Amino acid sequence: MTLVAFKALHIAALLLWCAGLLALPLVLERHHSHETQGRYARLRRFTHYGYIVVVTPAAVLAIAAGTALIWMRGVFVPWMFVKLLAVGALVAIHVYVGHTVLLMSERRGAHTPPPMWPVALAAGIVMLVILLLVLGKPALPDIAPDWLRTPRYRSLPFDATPN
Ligand code: HEM
Repeated sequence: MTLVAFKALHIAALLLWCAGLLALPLVLERHHSHETQGRYARLRRFTHYGYIVVVTPAAVLAIAAGTALIWMRGVFVPWMFVKLLAVGALVAIHVYVGHTVLLMSERRGAHTPPPMWPVALAAGIVMLVILLLVLGKPALPDIAPDWLRTPRYRSLPFDATPN
């Protein structure tokens, strides 16, 4: 039951996170420095609250539930480590989107928004890679060198534990 609950939480949260990482760049793309006050206020509210109230908490929940699932399912396997690398890329995209949301408010008028559709495209590609890894669970070779996988039996480089 706990496993089902954590997996359900993981999937519900990552759906929100991924939807946000596709939607927010596309909404930011609609922002222009010469738009009317009403339109600016609408876009600003949507991106600001969307980012801090929905998308970021969903990312934290997805990552926390996913981390718990690693131990519950014992998946210390190469495809999972590649998946974590891809999740790192998704987190970098998340931070970039947040930075752009912030610039929209702090440099209003002086800020020319960068093209954001490539960001949505990159997020979509990373999500696809993650889904292929997690659903296909491919048997990837373990490329970790031997010295990383076996105990070295070396003592610490000092006599006592420092206080
Ligand atoms: C740090 C972030 C993440 C961690 C630690 C993590 C970890 C995990 C683990 C351990 C499982 C269970 C695998 C199994 O039952 O064999 C899982 C399932 C899943 N994850 Fe993640 N995950 C993360 C982020 C994501 C993201 C960003 C996506 C999608 C874009 C995703 C998609 C899925 C899906 C679809 C499943 C269900 C797979 C199945 O039941 O066969 N995960 N995740």
